[in-house]
Amino acid sequence: MNKKILVTGGLGFIGSHTVVALQEKGFDVVIIDNLSNSSLEVLGGIAQITKISPEFEKIDLREKGAVNAFFDKYQGIDGIIHFAASKAVGESVQNPLLYYENNLNTLIYLLQHLKQKETANFIFSSSCTVYGQADELPITESAPVKKAESPYGNTKQIGEEIIADTCKVTSQLNAISLRYFNPIGAHPSAHIGELPIGTPQNLAPFITQTAVGKREKLSVFGNDYPTPDGTCIRDYIHVMDLARAHVVAMERLLDKEQTNNYEVFNLGTGEGNSVLEAIQAFEKVSGKKLPYEITERREGDITAAYADTTKANEVLKWKAEYNIEDALKSAWKWQQKLEEEEKKG
Ligand code: UD1
Repeated sequence: MNKKILVTGGLGFIGSHTVVALQEKGFDVVIIDNLSNSSLEVLGGIAQITKISPEFEKIDLREKGAVNAFFDKYQGIDGIIHFAASKAVGESVQNPLLYYENNLNTLIYLLQHLKQKETANFIFSSSCTVYGQADELPITESAPVKKAESPYGNTKQIGEEIIADTCKVTSQLNAISLRYFNPIGAHPSAHIGELPIGTPQNLAPFITQTAVGKREKLSVFGNDYPTPDGTCIRDYIHVMDLARAHVVAMERLLDKEQTNNYEVFNLGTGEGNSVLEAIQAFEKVSGKKLPYEITERREGDITAAYADTTKANEVLKWKAEYNIEDALKSAWKWQQKLEEEEKKG
């Protein structure tokens, strides 16, 4: 019998790509999503790629009763990948309680359920934001966690601590936190991709929306950073690589290969690219000139972050296969498809 994986937030950006990767590896998937920042149409996109419609439950994980009722209905879940969370840094500053409730209560309710089980496998979506501006680059998993710049970042740090503390006293709970660097891109089929609501805050969707004419120009937030071209450096990782890493991490849990029942891995390419390099890469793969201007720095931005991926390479036997150009090319294809659909109405 196929193993069954619960993917919370499975209609979101990284979640939906991970559902595809899981199904392609022969896992059965059940998705929980509250549709607060996603669309039911994503289910159709997943089915178009894999020819399999995953099971879907519209549940808000902040409702403890609904979480318990879900697990009563679905008894045979072998593993959980927990993506469901709010992720807008600026919004988290405006509405911290919403972020603490969304990102922490949901995690606690899931873990409370898992604690009662004979064995449980759990993967948590964390972020390189936990490192803040690291003193040394590339960033290894042993770099210290710095004071969070935002309530969003704080929820990732506290989330990791909650899991680590629970694992210490729950030997049957096996967990992995995956610290993503900057996820971008879309499925190469353009059946699924990123769907930012309103004005995108992140670089890649802002670039593609500008190129398609939805935005007048990109603001490059500062060119006076201590980097070769003065703009910030990040590690942009293709969402397809990220999705595959979740499958590999889940297989590690299911195969009981962990050396410790709580482990942490960086997921990045190991390459740093500046904002101007990202623009150049986009112009190269799209053949379009991108209008942009240099503006003030954005508050809270760090100068540079890119991953040391040695641990994921050696322990998970996972390595990013795509580069920034591949990722931006797929994001561009996806944006063009959205544009066509919008025109068709
Ligand atoms: C941000 C969050 C991070 C979160 C990630 C999710 C902060 C401090 N960090 O990362 O916690 O996990 O999103 O993907 O907000 N840029 C521009 N113009 C734009 C948009 C971005 O120049 O219109 C620059 C930024 O200054 C930055 C780079 O592009 O140097 C990447 O920005 P972004 O995509 O927002 O990601 P991060 O800020 O790295």
